[in-house]
Parts: sequence; structure tokens; C-alpha cells
Amino acid sequence: MRKPFIAGNWKMNTQSATAVALAAGLARELQAVDQVDVAVCPPFVYLQSVAAALSASSIALGAQDVYFEPNGAFTGEVSVEMLKDCCVNYVIIGHSERRHVIGETDELINKKIAAAIAGGLLPIFCVGELLAEREAGKTNQVVMNQVKKGLAGLCKERVQAVTIAYEPVWAIGTGKTATPAQAQEVHAMIRQLLTEMYGKQIAQSLRIQYGGSAKPSNTAELMAQPDVDGLLVGGASLKVEDFAAMVKTAAKN
Ligand code: 13P
Repeated sequence: MRKPFIAGNWKMNTQSATAVALAAGLARELQAVDQVDVAVCPPFVYLQSVAAALSASSIALGAQDVYFEPNGAFTGEVSVEMLKDCCVNYVIIGHSERRHVIGETDELINKKIAAAIAGGLLPIFCVGELLAEREAGKTNQVVMNQVKKGLAGLCKERVQAVTIAYEPVWAIGTGKTATPAQAQEVHAMIRQLLTEMYGKQIAQSLRIQYGGSAKPSNTAELMAQPDVDGLLVGGASLKVEDFAAMVKTAAKN
């Protein structure tokens, strides 16, 4: 009922030639796959060349961030309209690296989500606890708080544009994946919260991705969990072979 959705977050990786080669390789490998929604999120500066490399494929283009103001004196920022102008459909918002390295707050993330949806982009809204928070037994509290604050003020119609990505910070880039049971537990908790906020029908239709050291060898077991609807993939999305294998595994699930 929820179509799997696998997205690759290239982070601050690739160069102009390798970005295009990666996109072209994926377009070639994944041309027969239509059971899964697939997106790649290159750095801003390569969006247009990656869009061209993907033009004949069904792989969608995502950005890694967006600013909430429409235009003006915001040096270094990129607007919703600029992204749409570059053929972008999805945008990652609130990634843990932006929260914890760059210092983004829940309030800023909320403004970005609202602006992205108002302008017609589909946010991939990231949440997840730090290791110390998990060890202190605060995972549910932290994640619930992030979901509530990130989606604050969004009505039922608007929230349907959102994909939530649960990315436990301790699992990102560490090789330490959450167990399928750990992922399922938090995903089910998020869906329960969405049910309370928006009702069962909407909560059942929203997709929740898992992210954090997802790779070909753990894709099947993660995707087999009832509330894991897809993956947000970092490191493994930089290799055509690995990312394509993950999409194909998800297609079989
Ligand atoms: P890794 O897959 O490299 O752990 O990164 C996950 C992530 O942060 C995706 O947004």
C-alpha cells in the first residue's frame, strides 16, 4: 500500500564528472525498476548536470537543503523556486548533520518544511536521536519532539507531501546500523504519533524511511519491517552497484 522509497543522499561528495557518471550509471541500472520510488540528492552545484543525466529515467532529483525565504539578501542560501527551476522534486530537511554540525533548530526546520511544501517540493524530513539520548532512554521523547516541532502548523492536506526519515545519529556513517527491530520500534512510534496528529488514514499513507549505515547486505531485513517504507542512504548511494542493488532488493520485498 505504501510504495517503497529509496533516496540517496550524496552529502558533500562527488565532483562534476563523477556526479554525472553516478547518475548515468543509476539511470542505466534502474531503468526496469518501477516498483520503487527512487531519488538522488547531489550537492546543489551539480543539480542541473545530474538532472540532465537522469532526464530519460524515472529517478527523481532531490536537494540536500533549502531556505525558507523566497529571495533576497540571504548569502549562500538557495530558495524553493531555484530548486524547482533545476528540476528538483524532493528536498532533505533537518538532516542530523545540519542539526548537529551546522546548528539548525527545530524552528528553522519547521519553516523550511512549510516553505518547501507551499512551493510544491516534497520534503524528506529527518529525525533521530544521539547515542547519549538513546543510552539515557530518551529516544522516543527526542524523536517525538522533533516530529511535533518539525510538522507544527501543517494541516492534513500539506503533511501528505512529507516523507519522514528516521536516522539515529549514532548509526550514520559509523557502520553501526540500527537492528531491524530497533528501527521498527521507532518507526511504529512515529506512525502512532502521526495517527494522533493527523488520523489513521494519513498516518498509514505517509512513508517513513530508515537511514544510518544502510547497505546492500541489510536492505532486505530493514525493508521487511512493517513500518520501514524505504531508506535514506548515505555512503552506499555513492556506488552505482550498491545503490542499484538496494533498490532492486526493495523492489522484491
Ligand atoms: P550513511 O548511510 O553513510 O550512514 O548515511 C546515512 C545518512 O545520513 C543519509 O542521510
